[in-house]
Order: sequence, then C-alpha cells, then structure tokens
Amino acid sequence: MTKGRPGEILVSEERLQARIEELAAEVARDYRDRDVLIVGVLKGAIFFIADLVRKLGMGCELDFMAVSSYGSNTHSSGVVRILKDLDHAIAGRHVLVVEDIIDSGLTLSYLLKNLASREPASLEVCTLLTKPRFRRLPLQPRYVGFDLPDVFVVGYGLDADEQYRHLPYIAAFEPDAS
Ligand code: PRP
Repeated sequence: MTKGRPGEILVSEERLQARIEELAAEVARDYRDRDVLIVGVLKGAIFFIADLVRKLGMGCELDFMAVSSYGSNTHSSGVVRILKDLDHAIAGRHVLVVEDIIDSGLTLSYLLKNLASREPASLEVCTLLTKPRFRRLPLQPRYVGFDLPDVFVVGYGLDADEQYRHLPYIAAFEPDAS
C-alpha cells in the first residue's frame, strides 16, 4: 500500500483539455483518409481516450488491452503481463495506441512489438504524458501531450494503489514520510 496524497497540480484541468483538443485535431487531420482503430491501454488511459475520441469529430473504432507493469509500487517492476487482449484482429488496420503515460517505456516497447507482429497497416502511438527516463529510449510516439518531470503523478486516470484516478487534473503524489 502506497500511503500519501495528491500534492502540487502539475497540469490543470484547463490545460489538459486544451491540449487534448489540439491532439484530437492532429489525429483527425492525419487520419482523415483512413479508418483509424484506437487501441486503448487500460486502465489509466480511459479518461484520456474518452475525451480524445469525443473531440476527434470523426468516427473511429475502439478496442482495448489491459497490461500490468507496476503492481502496487511507484516504480516499474520490469514485468509486463497481458491481462486482457484485443477483441479483434488488427491485420491491415491503421492502429493508434493510446496511453496515459510512458515512464520507463517498458510497457510500450512490449506492446509495440506484440502489436507489430499482428501486421497492422500502420502503428502509431498517442500518449498524454511522458517522463524523462523514457526520453532516453528509441521510442517515438507520434503524439505527446505533456513532458513531465521525474515525479510520481496521480489523477486523470493515473492511480496510487487504485486511488485518485477520478481527479480531473494531474498532480504530484506526495508519499507519507516513513
Ligand atoms: C501505467 C501506464 C502505462 C505504464 C507506463 O500502467 O498506464 O501503461 O504504466 O509505465 P512504463 O513506461 O514504465 O512501462 P499501470 O501498469 O500502472 O496500470 P494501470 O494503467 O491499470 O494503472
């Protein structure tokens, strides 16, 4: 159990929604001639996916994967497990993976390798947040909302032991002093 509380607000609700509007416009422009299949990564990305898709202004299909990399710690465990796979095949589809955050990049590296082996027509990534560790890796998400400092964050889908996902903003998590 990670004890603590949300502290400083790093990205306000207004900034989040304004940036998501911009991302949605970019996605809509880039996929105007192709049917996009949004692959959401549960659970953290659900709020981002819901807002992004509603701001797209065009139809899209949705499918979901659930993977686990963190357990109940504030650091990546190094293990990625598929908890729920896609409902449908993606061969020949234009796939856009939507993530809430890329931290170590471990989850995304695993996912991209796994999805690429299913032979989609194209495979791109849209992440709301990145952290510095990932920026040293050769991963290039096509769409990035905000680059964060190296702090543990909660809110807008991101949790600490399943708490605080409901907050409409991104806040630094302040663990209790032990
Ligand atoms: C978070 C987040 C990413 C992953 C990023 O998921 O949603 O999928 O960690 O971390 P990485 O870049 O270090 O691999 P988490 O496993 O916490 O699950 P959740 O979305 O269900 O909370």
